[in-house]
Amino acid sequence: MTRVLLIEDNPADARLVRHLLDGESLFEVRWAKSLAEGLQNLESQPCDLVLADLHLPDCDGITIVECLTQAYPEVPIVVLTGQLQDGLAEEAIQKGAEDYQEKDKLNDHCLSRSLRYAVQRHQLNHQIRQTCASLEQSNRQLKDAQMKLVQQEKLATVGQLSAGIAHEINNPLSYLKSNLKTLQNYFQRLNEFCALLPLQDCPELKEAARRLKIALVMEDCPDVLTESQDGVTRIEDICQNLKLFTYQGIQERVAADINACLKSTVRVAWNALKYQAKIEYDLAELPPLLCSPQKLNQVFMNLLLNSVHAIEEKYGQAGQKVAEPQGRIGIQTREQNGQIVIAIEDNGNGISDEVLPHIFDPFYTTKAAGVGTGLGLSVSSDIVRKHQGHIDVRTSPQGTVFTLTFPLAEPVLN
Ligand SMILES: Nc1ncnc2c1ncn2[C@@H]1O[C@H](COP(=O)(O)OP(=O)(O)OP(=O)(O)O)[C@@H](O)[C@H]1O
Ligand SMILES: [Mg+2]
Repeated sequence: MTRVLLIEDNPADARLVRHLLDGESLFEVRWAKSLAEGLQNLESQPCDLVLADLHLPDCDGITIVECLTQAYPEVPIVVLTGQLQDGLAEEAIQKGAEDYQEKDKLNDHCLSRSLRYAVQRHQLNHQIRQTCASLEQSNRQLKDAQMKLVQQEKLATVGQLSAGIAHEINNPLSYLKSNLKTLQNYFQRLNEFCALLPLQDCPELKEAARRLKIALVMEDCPDVLTESQDGVTRIEDICQNLKLFTYQGIQERVAADINACLKSTVRVAWNALKYQAKIEYDLAELPPLLCSPQKLNQVFMNLLLNSVHAIEEKYGQAGQKVAEPQGRIGIQTREQNGQIVIAIEDNGNGISDEVLPHIFDPFYTTKAAGVGTGLGLSVSSDIVRKHQGHIDVRTSPQGTVFTLTFPLAEPVLN
């Protein structure tokens, strides 16, 4: 049964419509004599279709259609028009009415068909609009996914290229490193030799030493050599990290004690940590995890050093022993639902909303030039992913916690 609201001020016309529709047991007709009464009626009871006259005491013409479609867009409208009102009827359809009927040509057959089709058409249009909206959304999602794929493809290429370059750099780097060591040794010998030169007794030698600023050269040389060695070590670090981008899967798996791994990483990082932060352990008894402990240690090291940097940002660099450092790094382990959960928490400066979406991007860093490569977290997340694990981050201005989750069941390695 289709519920029809008839809005018609002329009782004779209303009677006629009801009479025509009553013959069919398809319609249940309610009657309102004005637009306001019609709107009230629609508010109080659901309705499948409105049949509205375009001349009402409180509103006239196309405005009636506009008011109804605006207030009840889900209800189809058929309008009743007088003689010679074709223009008005077409305008009504443009504004959203489904059909029109001329009052002086009304008959039961045409009216019933018009109303039934109006309801069907309205439903179909509604479905089409919904389908279009969901297609548009799918299209947007597809475009996003495509962009991400392109981005990942680019990153994979950059990763491969970088690993190749890193490999190339590594070879000259190894002799640069060893030559620097030799130079340091040669310099020491030269220094010893120069100290024995009888400068006072030989004015030419003395003059040459002054002109060539030999005293300054001798003083500066060790610093220059040490700086060069630091630079070489840094290049070595970068190459090492870049190479990790392309390593496939984890080959050497052993059953490792994660608590022991964490403690040993803290010991290795102790020099960087000791003045900045107090380490607070909360370690549960854990079953062994099948993993590559070296790789996981590298992840722990990255997270610990990031925490130290965040603490330095907040409280400044301690540099020497203080009774109780302000920094805190909490290391917690748990076994939960067949997984090992590791949380590394700090009370550093936190990660801002602008920075957070980028922290896992390769080469993204907020640290000063030369301090961070921005590879720490991207390499870490890669290692965690290759262990079938997850890495999550929660942050606030009070600090940050990185949570690592690894399944205990034997991971399927790629
Ligand atoms: N615990 C943390 N607290 C605050 N910020 C953090 C923390 N961990 C990471 N970040 C932010 O994420 C950025 C990216 O970290 P990531 O470890 O990838 O690179 P990095 O530490 O800058 O350099 P690298 O680790 O290569 O030396 C950091 O520059 C920092 O802004
Ligand atoms: Mg880092």
